Amino acid sequence: MIMKVSVYVFLLFLFSLNLRAENGHDLWLRNKSTSHVNVVCSKSSPTLSIAVQELQQGWQGKDGVKVILTVKNDKAIRNNGFRLSPAGIQANTDLGILYGVYELLRRQQTGEIIEENVCNPSYEFRILDHWDNPNGTIERGYAGQSIFWRSGDTALSVTQNDRTLWKEYARADASIGINGAVLNNVNASPMMLSKKYLQRVKAIAEVLGPYGIRTYLSINFSSPAVIGGLKTSDPLDPEVIKWWKGKAREIYSLIPDFGGFLVKASSEGQPGPQDFGRTHADGANMLADALNPFGGIVMWRAFVYSPTDLDRAKQAYNEFMPLDGQFRDNVIIQVKNGPVDFQPREPFSPLFGAMKKTSVMPEFQVTQEYLGQAIHLVFLATMWEECLQSETYQKGAGSTVARCTDGSVYPQKHTAIAGVSNIGLDTNWCGHPFAQANWYAFGRLAWNNSLTSEKIADEWIKLTFAPVVPGQATSTLFSTEWTEHFLIPVRRMMLQSREAAVNYMMPLGIHHIFAGNHHYGPGPWYAPRGLRPDWTPPYYHKADTLGMGFERTRAGSDAVSQYHEPLGSQFNDLNTCPDKYLLWFHHLPWDYKMKSGRKLWDEICYHYETGLQQVREFQKIWDKVESYVDTDRFILIQSKLRSQCANAQVWKDACLLYFQQFSRMPIPYDIERPVNNLEDLIRNDTRRR
Ligand code: GCU
Repeated sequence: MIMKVSVYVFLLFLFSLNLRAENGHDLWLRNKSTSHVNVVCSKSSPTLSIAVQELQQGWQGKDGVKVILTVKNDKAIRNNGFRLSPAGIQANTDLGILYGVYELLRRQQTGEIIEENVCNPSYEFRILDHWDNPNGTIERGYAGQSIFWRSGDTALSVTQNDRTLWKEYARADASIGINGAVLNNVNASPMMLSKKYLQRVKAIAEVLGPYGIRTYLSINFSSPAVIGGLKTSDPLDPEVIKWWKGKAREIYSLIPDFGGFLVKASSEGQPGPQDFGRTHADGANMLADALNPFGGIVMWRAFVYSPTDLDRAKQAYNEFMPLDGQFRDNVIIQVKNGPVDFQPREPFSPLFGAMKKTSVMPEFQVTQEYLGQAIHLVFLATMWEECLQSETYQKGAGSTVARCTDGSVYPQKHTAIAGVSNIGLDTNWCGHPFAQANWYAFGRLAWNNSLTSEKIADEWIKLTFAPVVPGQATSTLFSTEWTEHFLIPVRRMMLQSREAAVNYMMPLGIHHIFAGNHHYGPGPWYAPRGLRPDWTPPYYHKADTLGMGFERTRAGSDAVSQYHEPLGSQFNDLNTCPDKYLLWFHHLPWDYKMKSGRKLWDEICYHYETGLQQVREFQKIWDKVESYVDTDRFILIQSKLRSQCANAQVWKDACLLYFQQFSRMPIPYDIERPVNNLEDLIRNDTRRR
């Protein structure tokens, strides 16, 4: 009896601890040490001090164990990789030791075995791009204002609070292997290179540096004229060249570990070399030469398209392929995962693997511009895994996007990967607690591009939601009950969430049918007179009484030919084109017979309905786990799921009722009827929350 009561009291105790409020600020780093560790490290440096401190604060191994940290050259270890073993960590660099420490702690806390193995990063540069503006707003940011910039009188003063936040940010990044941060928006203000702004960059860099995070800046290509007072910003003009060299020298004298520049040029109205009749290579190389003496890099974006008749999906490839081999070796071409723009689903950009003599880096969007922003629960690892594991065939089978960009297939001098950040001043950093998983996933994949989404989700859930009991190692708290009733269903929900979003937003290869500007809700009808056609959904869905879809086959825009064989032919042929890309590559009649045996129209309807039902299921999953989550996070996520569900209904109704005007076919009768009127949806074409 006494035994029973004490078990009961203990369970109550566990329960109450678990239900304590958590505001999410600690991210995946909530766990504290449960025992003492004896750390031996013969060298000292700011980075090593952090490593030692992290071990002491997070140690969950055996009490009193000795852990040896050794900085020593080892050929098996590349870059800032490390050798992990039960006795300690060995690395070529101090930063390698810090990464090893985070790996060791993660394994302890998730219950993974710690055995001897070498862990090397897939990419040399693993960078978060912050689209933060100098006034503190964030382009496509949904989690509050910038942590780096603000407006007003105190805009440029550096406070203790700033430093604390930057340090927390740096720690979170380093814990998942991120080693670079671009501090400002790609639509860059020239002001960012002015003396007073560079002073603030210096202050940020000093906090980020010990965590191995280098700072980078997005630059405005017109800076020489706008802030330098020159008559031109022509990249071949000697005065312009001199100006950039001087600017590079100035930056490095302030920030010796500065990383380099990110450039959006001749794209969406941004200035660039083409304004002066020069090429992307002329522009990028000029900057690369200015940074080269200091070891800096240029990340030059390939996100370019102009309002011509040419299929937008083809333009970046057309512009960049002729330049292959013309870039300096400290230039990396930064390519979005898909050829259009971070849509819920796109085939991979054909530039991956095709540029064989140029370093190419993938750019993913962590912030959910097109995936429900900070309202929808959408775990993006599955999307990135899909892109990274896509077969390009550029050098025969096995030439995946991952291997074509990480140096396995081509001997590129530098390898890199970037993610457009989703963080802001919100207490929980990302707005939605589950959006933290996307930050986490980006870092983990940048470190190891062959990790599975399942493994990443598993780790993240354990680190973020495991019960915390002082004095007890986290992994000992993963009871069978917790695993069955919390971990497994929540992981399933995460792994299905991106496909659910594709289903209720734009299934079967449909793309870019968002409401104008805010890119949140549906707007397949959106086409204000006079607006560039490629900024309106009808350009992409091409629905008419005959059918819908973008004809990119050889009979159409021929975008399929930008893919290496046999892929080009596979996409071109209706028999082999995967359903998920069908309407991306083909314009098909409404009664086209799908592989499922259904008509195209019916298939579209079932996908929208499935997406909505998937979100309903997520609601049930979440409600059932209430007793395993603290109240604050439980309620926040529950309420966001309600909004997501209401939004999924809007997506389904809007798209089915709108496209039905063209298909003139009934919505299959076993599907729940729309509950919104199309006219109301068009009238209220605003952000829905
Ligand atoms: C998208 C996004 C813009 C952004 C652009 C880019 O189009 O909507 O806000 O500037 O991508 O990546 O440059």
